[in-house]
Amino acid sequence: MKNQNVLITGGAGFIGSHVTRRFVTHYPDYSIVVLDDLTYAGNLENLKEIEHAPNYTFVKGNINDFEFVQALFQKHAFDGVIHLAAESHVDRSLEDPAAFVITNIVGTVHLLTAAKAAWKDQFEGKRFYHISTDEVYGSLGVEGLFTEHTPLDPQSPYSASKAGSDHFVRAFHNSYQLPVVISRCSNNYGPNHFPEKLIPLMIHNILRKKPLPVYGKGENVRDWLYVEDHASAIDTIYHRGKTGEVYNIGGNNEWKNLELVHLLCTIMDEKLKQASGTAASLITFVKDRPGHDLRYAIDASKLRDELGWEPSLDFPTGLAKTIDWYLANGEWLQHVTSGDYTKYYDKMYANR
Ligand code: NAD
Ligand code: TYD
Repeated sequence: MKNQNVLITGGAGFIGSHVTRRFVTHYPDYSIVVLDDLTYAGNLENLKEIEHAPNYTFVKGNINDFEFVQALFQKHAFDGVIHLAAESHVDRSLEDPAAFVITNIVGTVHLLTAAKAAWKDQFEGKRFYHISTDEVYGSLGVEGLFTEHTPLDPQSPYSASKAGSDHFVRAFHNSYQLPVVISRCSNNYGPNHFPEKLIPLMIHNILRKKPLPVYGKGENVRDWLYVEDHASAIDTIYHRGKTGEVYNIGGNNEWKNLELVHLLCTIMDEKLKQASGTAASLITFVKDRPGHDLRYAIDASKLRDELGWEPSLDFPTGLAKTIDWYLANGEWLQHVTSGDYTKYYDKMYANR
């Protein structure tokens, strides 16, 4: 693989930081530029292991600012873009849908437009990789799996905005032959996950002996994948995925929320050397999320059969690694749970 200039958007966020760390360390001859606006979810502490790497540059900026994005493309001569920057939390999307339209749809269109202009329609060796989500397919009943042919049927403002961005990415391929590739992954978990999402929120609350809010009856099902496995899948698809294609990425690892929370509680009791049942006593059933998608489950056989990718970690191992990371990184947790997040948390959970 020849040396490349790669733009990673959203590289200071949860998944983006793992992707950035992987690319900076695995490809020392690549030049990696991270573009991130450092919203509440972006945190440069996620990138501190590589902040002095000679092949890494951080740029603070907003993908919604077209002139800025265009100037960045003119300055750097990118060969590839891995686009992760997004508003990513369903509960926040219910509070402020327009913010999701602006970043997830308009921001993506700005990046597509800037890439097309910078590459002057000479697309040989170029790649625009859009990181999407399984949530664009909507919600499953108790059976079945999402394949790449499942029609998009988003149900939340978050998933509707991600589906909108997927449509624009495909439209740029169809209309202008922009060399795009898309992947749609299931729920990720692992280190550096902002504690508004289920797993890190539960870990954080167990540590602080706060209630563990389970929405509804806890019967919703998600398919969980360790974040470093997602980063390895992104590496595979970036380098070997076929232009114009969509690849599903999944962990083949479905859990009902309540069962997952119980498993987490058991591991946490062991790690904290507290009596069995201590963490689970904090479980509190709260009002359900409006329009809560029942089940997501992924058929990732295309990625396995065509590109040979499979997840490497089983769930108990991945969860134990995740919990160990949070226990060893109390300062990280303390920093991200101060300020904006605290206010947000109070607002979201006050009425539940
Ligand atoms: P995240 O919220 O942790 O990180 C998003 C990053 O984007 C943050 O660093 C934030 O500062 C940055 N950002 C937000 N708005 C921006 C803007 N306008 N301009 C520049 N930067 C901006 O999200 P994540 O969980 O790491 O998800 C990354 C991507 O993967 C998203 O596109 C998401 O839809 C997708 N995805 C996430 C999951 C999951 O389980 N977390 C699963 C499948 C797909
Ligand atoms: P989340 O981590 O927000 O991811 P997503 O909604 O994108 O799948 O939530 C995962 C599941 O956990 C989802 O069914 C909602 C549920 N949930 C709770 O029960 N309690 C919580 O406090 C949170 C944040 C989520």
